[in-house]
Amino acid sequence: MPLPEAFLQELKSRSDLADIASSYVHLRRSGRHLVGLCPFHGEKTPSFHVYGENGSFYCFGCGAGGDVITFVRKIENLDYMEAIRWLADRAGMQVPENQVEDGLGKLKTRLLEINREAARFYHAVLMSPEGRPGLQYLEKRGLSLKTIRSFGLGFSPESRFSLVNHLRKKGFTDEEMVQANVAFRGRNGGVADRFFGRVMYPIIDLRGNVIAFGGRILTDQKPKYLNTSDTLVFHKSQSLFALNFAKNVSSQQMILAEGYMDVIALHQAGFPTAIATLGTALTAQQANLLAKYAREIVICYDADEAGQKATARAIPLLRNAGLQVKVLTIPQGKDPDEYIRSWGEQGYARFKQLLDSTGNDVEYRLEKIRRSCALDTAEGRVAYLTGAAELLSTLENKIEQEVYAAKLASEIGVDKYAIQQQISKYASRQRKQREQKEFQSFQQQRAGLRDRVNPEKAAHLRAATAEEALIGALCRYPEYQDLAAKELPAEKMLTGFNRKVYSVILDCGKEGKNFSLTDIADRFQEEELAAIAGMMARTQDLTIRKQDVEEYIRIIQWENEKLQAERATAGEVGDIQAYLENLKSMKK
Ligand code: GTP
Ligand code: MN
Repeated sequence: MPLPEAFLQELKSRSDLADIASSYVHLRRSGRHLVGLCPFHGEKTPSFHVYGENGSFYCFGCGAGGDVITFVRKIENLDYMEAIRWLADRAGMQVPENQVEDGLGKLKTRLLEINREAARFYHAVLMSPEGRPGLQYLEKRGLSLKTIRSFGLGFSPESRFSLVNHLRKKGFTDEEMVQANVAFRGRNGGVADRFFGRVMYPIIDLRGNVIAFGGRILTDQKPKYLNTSDTLVFHKSQSLFALNFAKNVSSQQMILAEGYMDVIALHQAGFPTAIATLGTALTAQQANLLAKYAREIVICYDADEAGQKATARAIPLLRNAGLQVKVLTIPQGKDPDEYIRSWGEQGYARFKQLLDSTGNDVEYRLEKIRRSCALDTAEGRVAYLTGAAELLSTLENKIEQEVYAAKLASEIGVDKYAIQQQISKYASRQRKQREQKEFQSFQQQRAGLRDRVNPEKAAHLRAATAEEALIGALCRYPEYQDLAAKELPAEKMLTGFNRKVYSVILDCGKEGKNFSLTDIADRFQEEELAAIAGMMARTQDLTIRKQDVEEYIRIIQWENEKLQAERATAGEVGDIQAYLENLKSMKK
């Protein structure tokens, strides 16, 4: 059911896109609009534009675009109604209630209820005789009852139907359990528990909903951990374990560990800002999420090769999200859980000491290079300086570059100026490479998007380009809409997608509405909306006169006539062929 128009209008007028986007992206003014680094793809040269006057955004890099609702949906990963609720909360408005629950929203609510009920069930089992193996295991690993309770840990019974039977009694359907991924459907069509004989770690989102589970087997069997697959309410690449706790701690620093047990051990020892990804490599989305709650991340991965590789990959993601990064290496190749446990009562003090003496990511990376070079030889020193200069050239902060260049200079005994020169050389080479790469991926992404949204464009490039220019112009200058409506009926548009956009805009014009993307958002898919935002963005810096609009219309009409003529001749040829075929068959 649609929301009342008056409510939507009020909501939109209170939801300034520039305002909202600024809390995620550092935007600076450029002419009449705002520009920044796109939050939807990794880039170093800003191509993300926000147009205040019509409330739209568009990224010339990845083609993401739309209105304020699209922005909130994408950045917070919400569906339409959730985004409306999010905006309403922010604007201090009440969403008219009986209209809130659409079908998808209802299913999501059910999945969250299942997860909550499953977490309760697993926890109750852990505390019962049936859960003894699980409880013993956790106690052996040094967890107190208090910790077990606060993380809501549980145990899934060995029987394959315990949870399924329990949930049925609570009124959940088999299909809902499968959708929540707490059960799976067997070959015979029946459902069975997905987790059995495992210690269960609930994963909780920022609003306190249980959204998924990690389950650890007690033996050496494989897989050691089983995680919920992505569902309607769970996106692995956007969630972080224990962020629900860590976000409430007033500290600018968070500790990024590798595993569930590390996080829990750290919390128990007195480090409540420890968090972890869910068994997968850190993503840009997770890094951006962290940047909302912290200034500095201490990476504390395992000392093994896999952990070091993961560290190297995480550093640029975190830095790009605007975070300061430190890398903590635990002595003797231990993970945080083992380290803290090995020190018993002194766990907190010992780890704190490590934390306080941890160098930042630059020092960590310099140290890695230093160790790979034989500094007692001239070649080794050159190799070290070269590697170091290359590393320092990737730093955006010039002061940082200077400080380390000076350190290097005195360490190796060379001129600081020579090091800085080398750094600049690398920096400009990288800039060129980066720009080239970004441009290529920009071209590819745009072509890909264009083909999906408007597959006919490739066949009618000239017409489609004029169509898009016309649409962009009409969005910005509604006063030309009458002219267009008179001269160019929608049927004349050559490509289907543009035809639809054009007629929707003319309809809006007839209703006397001032056009904004949000007014038509409900009639288009997300990708389509992005394409329209792109058409608007591309006309932004042009002043469009009446002659220009007439010219666009003329091109479209001309292309249309050309096409008709071609079709007619094609038709003639076809007719002649049919005639000849006919003749042949008559002769036989
Ligand atoms: P313990 O072995 O109980 O100390 O767990 P840990 O948390 O220290 O795990 P480990 O360092 O072995 O692995 C780090 C993280 O990777 C785990 O917390 C899981 O999220 C994930 N992981 C480990 N093994 C598996 C596996 O077999 N399957 C999946 N999907 N994830 C795993
Ligand atoms: Mn471990």
